[in-house]
Amino acid sequence: MADIITIADEPERALDRACQVLAEAEPVAMPTETVYGLAADATNPDAIARIYEIKGRPRFNPLIAHVSNLEMAEAHATFDPLSLKLAKAFWPGPLTLVLPLKPESAIHPLCTAGLSTVGLRWPRGFAGDLIARYGKPLAAPSANTSGRISPTSAEHVAADLGEKLQLILDGGAAGVGVESTIIKVDAQGVHLLRPGGLSVAAIEAEIGQPVLRSEHAAGEAIEAPGMLASHYAPTASVRLNAGTVSRDEVLINFGDQPIAGRDEARAIFELSKTGNLREAAANLFSTMIKADAVGAGRIAFAPVPDQDLGEAINDRIRRAAAPRGEEDSQHG
Ligand code: TXA
Ligand code: MG
Repeated sequence: MADIITIADEPERALDRACQVLAEAEPVAMPTETVYGLAADATNPDAIARIYEIKGRPRFNPLIAHVSNLEMAEAHATFDPLSLKLAKAFWPGPLTLVLPLKPESAIHPLCTAGLSTVGLRWPRGFAGDLIARYGKPLAAPSANTSGRISPTSAEHVAADLGEKLQLILDGGAAGVGVESTIIKVDAQGVHLLRPGGLSVAAIEAEIGQPVLRSEHAAGEAIEAPGMLASHYAPTASVRLNAGTVSRDEVLINFGDQPIAGRDEARAIFELSKTGNLREAAANLFSTMIKADAVGAGRIAFAPVPDQDLGEAINDRIRRAAAPRGEEDSQHG
C-alpha cells in the first residue's frame, strides 16, 4: 500500500519524499487544483512507461507535461502570441495549451505519444511547488485507472491505485473538480479540444475572439486523442438531462428543478442545491463515486445548464453515459 503524506502537516517531507520517488523513475500521486494527477518525470521513458502501466492507458494517448513557470514552458514549446497571452492571463491554473514541441526539448516522445506537439500546463499550488523543486516537467494524467472516474481526493486515489503506488500526497479536496480546459491555436483560430475548469467565456474575454468548438475545425482528425467516447464510467449506467426519475435509479440533482418521481428515487445526491456551477464542478466526480456506491443499476442526472463550467460538467456526464464498448472503455 502507498505511503500517504498529508501536505498541510508535513510540507517539506512531502516535497523531499516526492522528489526522491520521482528520481527513482516511479510515479507519485499529487493534488492539483483540477483533479489528482499521477506524476512522473516527463524526460524519463521508464518513469512515463510506469504511468501507462499503472493506469492501463493506451500509449497512443499523450500526457500533459506540467511546468512550474513560463520559462520552463518556453524551453520545451514554441508559443504563438495568443497562446502566450492565455498563458500569462491564466497560468498557474486549469488551462492546458497544445503547442509545437521544440526539437531541443528533453520531454520524451512517450509523453507526447510521438506527436510534434505537446500539451503544457502550469498547475496552481502544491503541484507547481513540487515541479519547481524537482526542476523538470512532470507528465501527469489523472490518477485513476484508465476509463474510470477522475479522483478529486487522496482517498479516491488510494481506493483505485493504492496497491500500485509508492506515494500519495494528500492535499485535500481538489478545488476545481474537473480537468483543465485544453486549447490549441492554429492559423484558423483558437480551438477548444476539451472543455474544462477554465470557462470558454473567460478565454474569449481575454483574447477578444470566439473559441472554436471542434466541429468548427473542419477536416481535422480527433485533436485530443483521449477525448474518445466512454470515460468517467461508474459501474451503474448513466442517464443525463433527466426530467423524471424512477425507483431503481439514483438521482444526482442540480439546483431546484422539478424532477417527476424524485421522492421515489433510491437515493438523491446534490451537485449544488443553489445551482452554482463552480460548486457543482467541484462536487461532480466525488458525487458520481458516492452515487455509484449505492449499487443502483442506473444514475439519473438532472439537467445542468450548458454555460460556463456547465460545459465541462455536461461533457463529463455525456462521457459517463456513453456506450461502453471494449475499446471505448480504455481511455484517459
Ligand atoms: O487537469 C488536468 O488536465 C489533469 C491534471 C492532472 O493536470 N490531467 C489530465 O490528464 O486530465 P489526462 O491525461 O487525463 O488528459 C489529458 C488530455 C488527453 O485527452 C490527451 O489526449 C490530451 O490531453 N493531450 C495531451 N497532449 C496532447 C497533444 N499534444 N495534442 C492533443 N491532445 C493532447
Ligand atoms: Mg483522465
